Amino acid sequence: MSTIATESSTTQYPPVEISLADELSIQTRGLNLWYGDFQALMDVSVNIKKGIITGLIGPSGCGKTTLLRCFNRINERYGNVRTTGDIEILDKNIYDSDVSVRQLRRSVGMVFQRPNPLPISIFDNVLFGMGLHDAHKSLSRSERADVVEMALREVDLWNTVKDRLKARATTLTLEQQQKLCIARLLPLKPDIILMDEPCSALDAEGIEKVENLIESLRDEYTVVIVTHNMAQARRATDECIFMLLGEIIEHSKTSEMFLNPQHEKTEMYIQGRYG
Ligand SMILES: Nc1ncnc2c1ncn2[C@@H]1O[C@H](COP(=O)(O)OP(=O)(O)OP(=O)(O)O)[C@@H](O)[C@H]1O
Ligand SMILES: [Mg+2]
Repeated sequence: MSTIATESSTTQYPPVEISLADELSIQTRGLNLWYGDFQALMDVSVNIKKGIITGLIGPSGCGKTTLLRCFNRINERYGNVRTTGDIEILDKNIYDSDVSVRQLRRSVGMVFQRPNPLPISIFDNVLFGMGLHDAHKSLSRSERADVVEMALREVDLWNTVKDRLKARATTLTLEQQQKLCIARLLPLKPDIILMDEPCSALDAEGIEKVENLIESLRDEYTVVIVTHNMAQARRATDECIFMLLGEIIEHSKTSEMFLNPQHEKTEMYIQGRYG
């Protein structure tokens, strides 16, 4: 159950096209977003299921990053942003007055395009997120060591770095840095992990390793990943959402979207005819 849900939902909109077996992590209803006068998201209503990997795809500038950033309200950091509509994370409207943005961002972690470890040790990077949330204060030294080991094991980095935990994180390869950035979310026990083109700075070998890691996060976490790479979307996601000019054009199982897209625009995009 969510750490941010403190009272029952107040949404006015009925869920759409959801089987009873599907639990939802994220729902938006009639979501619009403006940067100043420019409308970047238009009437976005989407249901993102719990415990699966959902891809956000579409041409440059269609609003993928903007939509992703709505889910932890990080858009609010980017200047003159206004939104209307509802966003529910685990059945809680994230704009309700009793929602703590800090708590929301614990529950909804984010990984960026370029790995962004801090220029401190590998060990301290893993604990950094907890420090921001004061969650490590009550831990003993050995409990902290256990937290670090568990997170690094979960991202398959422990054996590589266990003998140099005091080394600066920036000495790691980009792929290892990106794994570390995922590892440092885990001690906060997030429900959802947002990834904005997490492999775009990596070489082919790094991409494969990070994709394998993302795959291993399925079930325990809900993952939403933005990607430009259609082969990656096909390989690494369970469902895909295709966006164009701030609107959702199609949302379906990835296998269905790639085999039998319902919209001509989706078909043209995934065939590489524009974008
Ligand atoms: N901070 C901002 N201020 C003003 N306009 C913005 C801002 N951020 C994004 N935009 C505009 O909003 C639209 C959607 O941008 P967004 O970055 O979400 O697209 P995207 O699909 O992630 O693109 P890309 O694939 O290039 O990363 C674009 O037209 C972009 O220029
Ligand atoms: Mg983007």
